[in-house]
Amino acid sequence: MKQLVITAFGGPEKLQLTEADHPPLASKQMRLKMHYAGVNPVDAKTRAGLGWGAEAIKDSLPWSPGFEVAGEVLEVGSEVCRFMPGDRVFGLVRGGAYSEELVVNCDEMMPLPDEVSYEMAGGLALAGTTAWQGLMVHGGLQQGERVLISAAAGGVGHLAVQLAKAEGATVVALTSTANQDFVTGLGADEVVDYHDHAAVASIAPVDLFLDLVGGTSGETLLSQVKPNGRVVTVPTITADQVIAAAQKKGIRATGMLKENDNEQLAMLADAVAEGRLTVEVSQVFELADGADAHRQIETGHTRGKVLLRG
Ligand SMILES: NC(=O)c1ccc[n+]([C@@H]2O[C@H](COP(=O)([O-])OP(=O)(O)OC[C@H]3O[C@@H](n4cnc5c(N)ncnc54)[C@H](OP(=O)(O)O)[C@@H]3O)[C@@H](O)[C@H]2O)c1
Repeated sequence: MKQLVITAFGGPEKLQLTEADHPPLASKQMRLKMHYAGVNPVDAKTRAGLGWGAEAIKDSLPWSPGFEVAGEVLEVGSEVCRFMPGDRVFGLVRGGAYSEELVVNCDEMMPLPDEVSYEMAGGLALAGTTAWQGLMVHGGLQQGERVLISAAAGGVGHLAVQLAKAEGATVVALTSTANQDFVTGLGADEVVDYHDHAAVASIAPVDLFLDLVGGTSGETLLSQVKPNGRVVTVPTITADQVIAAAQKKGIRATGMLKENDNEQLAMLADAVAEGRLTVEVSQVFELADGADAHRQIETGHTRGKVLLRG
């Protein structure tokens, strides 16, 4: 079976399509045919040797990226598994989704409702749980509050806009001009071009800031947060920097690392099935073109999600 791997950290060209052996199946596992795998910034950062992801795998290369998948069950292990061959599933994995086939733990996958396409599901798990946990678990968003979402047109941001709106928040979204109509269509109440510094500075103070850009952007936008407001800064590499700047202003700030949560995955899939949540898939690349998918995600200007097709 075909699999994209890196044998050393470096640029997108380090992703090589290889012929890999079918991995063995343990008793509580199942084999999946990958239909779509999400391409996320963490995949590219880890490939480049940056952040917690690279630290975790540096001594066990070669490594195949890919932390979210939608696919079809091909085979189940010998012990009881709630899935059968032919079932449609999706969820978060611990790497390796950039493969035609992969072996996953039965309890890590969720059933995919018939109404949800493999394509939408391929981009839902990682960005969806991050958006939900950032807004609700870490951010404590309440109905009627004002929430500022930076990178509102991106993978996490475009889902966060819809989820925050559904919770009854007033959503202030930052995008470039090119994405303003897109984000307005997702339900944002105020859409501001982040290049327009005067417009950003005149945003009325918010209760919660979901920082999806981090670094100096995250620091600058702290001025738009109420004195007793909250900040969740999502990019891990600059989290300490943004948290320290927030503390100097007396604002409560936290970083986060998304966690697998099957209840949240089921809730997100139901929302898509019922048409309350849409996953925007802007580009789909073949597995052999994984390097181009990484070049796209590294532009920092992807609309919605980029996927690989199995
Ligand atoms: N801690 C965790 O567990 C966790 C989980 C998921 C993601 N993350 C991190 O969260 C960040 C966002 O992830 P993502 O998947 O949403 O990324 P993404 O899809 O690559 O984000 C792309 C979006 O960022 C926007 N953007 C770029 N620069 C901006 C700026 N200065 N101000 C406002 N928007 C800007 C772009 O909008 P325009 O095209 O309109 O410019 C584009 O739509 C990444 O750093 C990622 O690594 C962390």
